[in-house]
Amino acid sequence: MKKYIIGIETSCDDTSIALLENEKVIQCITVSSEKELSKHGGIVPEIASREHARKIINVFHELIFQTKINYEEITMVAYTAKPGLITSLHVGKIFALTLAWYLNVDVLEIDHIDAHIFSPFINKKEIRYPFLSLIVSGGTTALYKVENSTKISVINKTLDDALGEAYDKVGRYLNLSYPGGPAIDLIFDDQKINYKYKLPRPQDPFSYSGMKSKIKNIIDKNSNDLDVVGIASSFQYWAITSLIEKINFYSKKYQINKITIGGGVSANQYFRREIKKSSISYLFPEQEYSCDNAAMIGYLAYVKSSE
Ligand code: KG4
Repeated sequence: MKKYIIGIETSCDDTSIALLENEKVIQCITVSSEKELSKHGGIVPEIASREHARKIINVFHELIFQTKINYEEITMVAYTAKPGLITSLHVGKIFALTLAWYLNVDVLEIDHIDAHIFSPFINKKEIRYPFLSLIVSGGTTALYKVENSTKISVINKTLDDALGEAYDKVGRYLNLSYPGGPAIDLIFDDQKINYKYKLPRPQDPFSYSGMKSKIKNIIDKNSNDLDVVGIASSFQYWAITSLIEKINFYSKKYQINKITIGGGVSANQYFRREIKKSSISYLFPEQEYSCDNAAMIGYLAYVKSSE
């Protein structure tokens, strides 16, 4: 039987709603609040949640308009329940519960990180367990072992900033546009790695605070003659190199040769280029499903309701 699933994502600064027919994404509309938030130098929870409240109805109407789905055909509503900014999650939750009540259909709570873990399978391969998963986003940097959609265990997790957050902070120190990840990726130059500035390697488990403090120091001491590309490139080199080392290490340790990689940092071009040199079989999400999106919420709802 066909399932028509509405996925809703509001955990951070993207207001996103998707429609899926079983595992197939029919449409996913995402409106970012990056522009509004960049005026404040990054995420301000109060502003992020106000933007969701302002945008969510229009995003839903646009989805209905583009897909021409009849309300009676919708069989399930799934929404991001955690983790995320509480007030932003709340907007999505209220919207999802109201919609499910109005349509008289089931509503499913989805864990945002679990959705990132499964996002690489969208429009691609059949899921084969077990596999490892590395999630590198603005809020998380963690490695998981996945045995099925409900048996997901953490292998290693950052105890301080997530890598995406470290990218954003380094971007801010260097006066680059927000978010820092794509801005640093864009100016990255592998000829400039370690040129002039020597940065410390990230520490275990996935800790970037040493690198960040060193970068802040360099900037404070060299404000008149700052090599922005050199610092950004060295930061990216060490951040990505250490991620790939960890993937290889845990793949051998757990004897699992398959890994999915999700979260905003998985869009990184240098990461995608370097991991090809590793012997592990890896799966990235399509570019549009790397960052926060509702298609992955609907997709995991489908997987869970079918397993
Ligand atoms: O998963 P995501 O969209 O949402 C949150 O966790 O909030 O990840 C956003 C993060 C941001 O920190 C952003 O700087 C980072 O992903 N990011 C990147 C790239 N594109 C986005 N980091 C490195 N390279 C990129 N190309």
